[in-house]
Amino acid sequence: MGAYAEHIKTVCNRFDKALDDNHFESVLIYSGQPRVDFLDDNAPPYRVNPLFKYWVPVTESPKSAIFYRKGSQRPTVYLFQARDFWHAAVSIPEEEWQQHVDLKIIDDLSMLTEDLGSELEQSAFIGEDFAQPVSDWKVKARNPQALIDHLHFHRSIKTEWEVDNLREANRLAAKAHVAAKEAFYAGKSELEIHHAYLGAIDFRESQVPYNSIVALNSHSAILHYDVYDTVPPKQIRSFLIDAGARYRGYCADITRSYAYEEGFYADLVEAMDKAQQELLSEIKPGASYYDLHVSMHLKVAQILSDFDFIKGDAQSIYDKGYTSAFMPHGLGHFIGLQVHDVGGFLKDDKGTSYERSERHPFLRLLRDIEVGHVFTIEPGLYVVDQLLEEHKDSADINWDKVDELRPYGGVRIEDSIVVGSDGNENLTRDAFKELGAE
Ligand code: GLY
Ligand code: MN
Ligand code: MN
Repeated sequence: MGAYAEHIKTVCNRFDKALDDNHFESVLIYSGQPRVDFLDDNAPPYRVNPLFKYWVPVTESPKSAIFYRKGSQRPTVYLFQARDFWHAAVSIPEEEWQQHVDLKIIDDLSMLTEDLGSELEQSAFIGEDFAQPVSDWKVKARNPQALIDHLHFHRSIKTEWEVDNLREANRLAAKAHVAAKEAFYAGKSELEIHHAYLGAIDFRESQVPYNSIVALNSHSAILHYDVYDTVPPKQIRSFLIDAGARYRGYCADITRSYAYEEGFYADLVEAMDKAQQELLSEIKPGASYYDLHVSMHLKVAQILSDFDFIKGDAQSIYDKGYTSAFMPHGLGHFIGLQVHDVGGFLKDDKGTSYERSERHPFLRLLRDIEVGHVFTIEPGLYVVDQLLEEHKDSADINWDKVDELRPYGGVRIEDSIVVGSDGNENLTRDAFKELGAE
């Protein structure tokens, strides 16, 4: 059986169980549609419902839907193709997935409701329903949380086909990262680097999975920096790029940090890279991702000590809360159909949640590690003055050193890892290696 055939079988089985446990006969998954801006007739780029693209790699077909009857092992895909002279027809190339579904082309949503008749009333509806006629459809339930939790819990284990797509997404992103790095060393502005990134893989901006962070110098300490200066700084020091790509709806999310010249910042990047690789070697089925996050804090604490940012040993630096000021975000997150893929807080498929950690409130993944999980590992260290404020009277902190790092911003290294039973796969480093780039 091919990888997609296996994938859709797994998806059918997961839906069978989820529908059964939640007492639904069937489900209708709406792909969504663009929502126009306030007082306007333009819409931001359309983003497909992730549970729609879980079934089929169709990401550009608004107003489409998937109907699945429990136990049938074969979904119906209602593919919307507008018959009007305003829009280009969506081209759907002939692909393997079409052999595994009943495909019905529609140009009006009434064709879907007529086809389904009274079955719709027994269905769970999953999708956005802000517009008519979808908002008027008589269904058994709209976006039932228990059904969604069930699906989200199991979505964390990726099928082979999903891993293939993530591998390809990483290849695309790595290629673009190489172009961005070259543009950085050629002295380009943030916007020019951003364009070099997109150009290298023929992407338009709406195709990347999140706003790329393209940050020179101190901008890299702004965790979601995405405003892009149009001129390069007078003195170029550092470059942090956190940017991804999508392939068949699956996401890559890669961060690299570069020093413009040899020196203290280059050493810091090297130390972070080493710490990141040590963390990768700690990933094992059964281990807790939370413990890995704490291990990361201790490694960051060691770097803070080694580079003379803070007095003391790693444990005391962590215990006093200093690492949270320098490294405020989580170690990483699930990745898949969504960049921050779902299910990181779910304990089981009944929707029981882990409580968010008070000590580490931004950590999005609290589950134990399992074979088939795919997640990021992204340690970092930054000068965020707002967070350092709390420690402003601390004599442990070497403020001269903090001042030295401030114009460089920060450093982060981020890869995506597939957990295996006998070793893990680093999708990101493998992609760079294939390019001869790392
Ligand atoms: N680029 C978003 C993240 O790393 O989580
Ligand atoms: Mn990430
Ligand atoms: Mn990232």
